[in-house]
Amino acid sequence: MPKLLIVETSPRGESSISRQMTRRFLTHWQAAHPQGEVVVRDLAKIELPHVNAPWLSAYFTPEEKHSPEMKEALRLSDALVAEVLAADHLLIATPVYNYNVPAALKAWIDHIVRKGQTLGIDGKGLVTGKKATVLIASGGVYTEGSPIRDRDIAAQYLRLILNVIGITDVTIVAGGAAKLVDMGEETMDAFVAKHATAIKQAAMV
Ligand SMILES: Cc1cc2nc3c(=O)[nH]c(=O)nc-3n(C[C@H](O)[C@H](O)[C@H](O)COP(=O)(O)O)c2cc1C
Repeated sequence: MPKLLIVETSPRGESSISRQMTRRFLTHWQAAHPQGEVVVRDLAKIELPHVNAPWLSAYFTPEEKHSPEMKEALRLSDALVAEVLAADHLLIATPVYNYNVPAALKAWIDHIVRKGQTLGIDGKGLVTGKKATVLIASGGVYTEGSPIRDRDIAAQYLRLILNVIGITDVTIVAGGAAKLVDMGEETMDAFVAKHATAIKQAAMV
């Protein structure tokens, strides 16, 4: 039974364009995988703590020597890692904030890149044999030929970090010019429709 892990980032609920892209993806994924299981990790519904001193202290202490406090410091991170490891397909839906991923998504990344679990001690990624799709909503356009192509940090960063943990089969759907929807110059449906083929292709595999 294939498992899809959806990581949602936008705090904008129904107004979120990346979440609408997820909806389209999910419809196709469920059609292609009627027995599939979907797990949603919604980063707008939890306050993920940043990596802090107790977390680091636990991280750099061998597991067999963990105190109850250290176990507690890593508990959420362990759960997030388990979700990633259990998934066959990882879907990340995110806005671009200040040319990069929102802090909530960066915090999630800091929790799931774990030496010995998702990243080998030798630096090789351990999350192999999986696929990832990244759905990005951004006010600007950063695709090939754009005058601000060099600011395409979020997509490049997400591809890089997924590669680092071992996921090399990565599809990115860049939903640029999303501001047209917010300015009322394009409907949400029309915006998502422009990316429908790419989203369907990513979901049907
Ligand atoms: C705080 C903030 C920072 C933003 N920074 C950028 C940016 O650097 N580049 C860009 O293209 N869009 C930027 N945007 C626009 C968002 O990426 C765009 O509104 C997108 O649709 C948000 O995703 P969502 O609709 O899923 O919430 C920013 C929006 C906000 C609220």
